Amino acid sequence: MEEMDIQKLFRGNCDFMLGVANLSQLPDDSRPEIAFVGRSNVGKSSLINALTHRKNLARTSNTPGRTQQLNFFNLSDTLTLVDLPGYGYAKVSKTQSKAWTKLLKSYLKGRVNLRLALVLVDGRHGLKESDKEMMEMLDVAAVPYRIILTKGDKMKGKDVQENVQKALKKHPAAFPEAHITSSNTGAGLDELREIIGQSL
Ligand code: GTP
Ligand code: MG
Repeated sequence: MEEMDIQKLFRGNCDFMLGVANLSQLPDDSRPEIAFVGRSNVGKSSLINALTHRKNLARTSNTPGRTQQLNFFNLSDTLTLVDLPGYGYAKVSKTQSKAWTKLLKSYLKGRVNLRLALVLVDGRHGLKESDKEMMEMLDVAAVPYRIILTKGDKMKGKDVQENVQKALKKHPAAFPEAHITSSNTGAGLDELREIIGQSL
């Protein structure tokens, strides 16, 4: 897809399709899909809002664990964006957290129209153990993915980006560079839309 078209696409209609807590309820898979993955509170829902020029399309929150199901958004009948529940949030019960992880993993492994997983990592903190597990799972499932360092407005220096990129060398399904965004200032968003466009 051409650069112009993808920026325009993200200015078009975007509607919430449905939320899914069970894999038997997945919507039809005829459109290419982009998944937003990452620990609780890294800014997945905020990034979906920022990319689509919305404020409240995907519900965001100061409380980690806000997104508790797979939420599907239809972007101009062309592309589906999926906001996934965050992992690695200690305050959710073990049973609950295991159920989410299971749902997340079966979705990521089995979704034929999934073109790209954006693995969001808080730019202030870098990779955590749960991110590494997620990356290994995506490598095994051969899902192409890209690390997005979020909250770029709060990042200081280049250490986090460099460390993440060093770690990425060991991950075959990952794009070698980590991309920095800020949903607050809009930094990196045009480029991220292009990255998404290139995966279609
Ligand atoms: P869960 O649904 O709980 O997994 O969280 P999430 O990953 O969807 O995070 P959400 O978008 O709800 O954002 C969590 C918090 O981070 C909110 O308080 C946001 O305002 C804040 N946040 C998100 N993006 C940015 C950003 O680019 N910069 C800064 N400074 N804060 C951000
Ligand atoms: Mg969320």
